[in-house]
Amino acid sequence: MEGETVCEVIQSRSHSFKAGEVVRAMTGWCTHAVVDATKVKHVETHGAPVSTALGVLGMPGFTAYGGMKVIGQPKPKETVVIAAASGPVGSLVGQIAKLAGARAVGVAGGKEKCDYVRDELGFDAVVDHRSQAFASELSSACPDGVDVYFENVGGHVWEAVSPLLNLYARVPVCGLIAQYNGPGDSPGDRLPALMSSILRRSLLLRGFINTEFLDTHFDAFKKEIGPLVASGKIKYREDVVDGLENAPEAFIGMLSGGNFGKLLVRVGR
Ligand SMILES: NC(=O)c1ccc[n+]([C@@H]2O[C@H](COP(=O)([O-])OP(=O)(O)OC[C@H]3O[C@@H](n4cnc5c(N)ncnc54)[C@H](OP(=O)(O)O)[C@@H]3O)[C@@H](O)[C@H]2O)c1
Repeated sequence: MEGETVCEVIQSRSHSFKAGEVVRAMTGWCTHAVVDATKVKHVETHGAPVSTALGVLGMPGFTAYGGMKVIGQPKPKETVVIAAASGPVGSLVGQIAKLAGARAVGVAGGKEKCDYVRDELGFDAVVDHRSQAFASELSSACPDGVDVYFENVGGHVWEAVSPLLNLYARVPVCGLIAQYNGPGDSPGDRLPALMSSILRRSLLLRGFINTEFLDTHFDAFKKEIGPLVASGKIKYREDVVDGLENAPEAFIGMLSGGNFGKLLVRVGR
């Protein structure tokens, strides 16, 4: 399985890395790996734990940052709705929205995650997508409509958000996790209604993969978000599973919301 790891250099023939250094690399799911030095990065976390290089200060955090800076562009007093709000991408998206002076409304599954998003991350409101009345509860939480919807899920969450989108709303389409394992939970015949609202409300939908912004925004991300994580101003949560042998079960669980925070597998000390 592909995957990025934070790991310790045991032996190196490169001048750039010494034994004992902590680095990140695409080693895949394994306990030991031989990696070309050009593909290895030093870990810079501004004093935060090294595990953050896989979450809030790594690819997921940068995905939140790039999607918001380039596509979402939240403005003061606007309403930003964030799907999968307790996860590594969504939790930073909402905190970036708050830093921009916007109102952050999270969508999460279950009371524990919802409480965390509102009470610890400081979002203005949160709605449980497992509630029977989810669509009407989301509408009540967004009395002025939605200016930015950060899409991580698709399916029934998108269906509830799309009628609330304001004129010129922006939708960074980052992920569609409800649809990765087959057809989504929204019947295809609702697509015409969606296309019509894109047309009538001049909506800008823009998909992205975080690597698109690496050259233009990664340095700014580290400079701006790194110190905020280290000082505790930006909050994050990790869900650590011990043992490589438990990785498959943890990964499958994540696809239905079993994780709470950035899912990490600890392979060694
Ligand atoms: N475009 C890019 O470059 C890029 C980069 C990284 C990640 N992503 C995408 O960004 C999204 C968030 O990633 P993450 O790492 O922050 O994930 P995450 O929040 O740690 O885990 C995914 C969460 O999605 C929610 N979920 C899963 N199935 C769902 C369903 N059927 N309906 C509603 N919610 C569901 C669950 O939260 P609840 O229990 O709260 O429902 C689950 O915990 C994913 O779609 C991922 O693929 C994209």
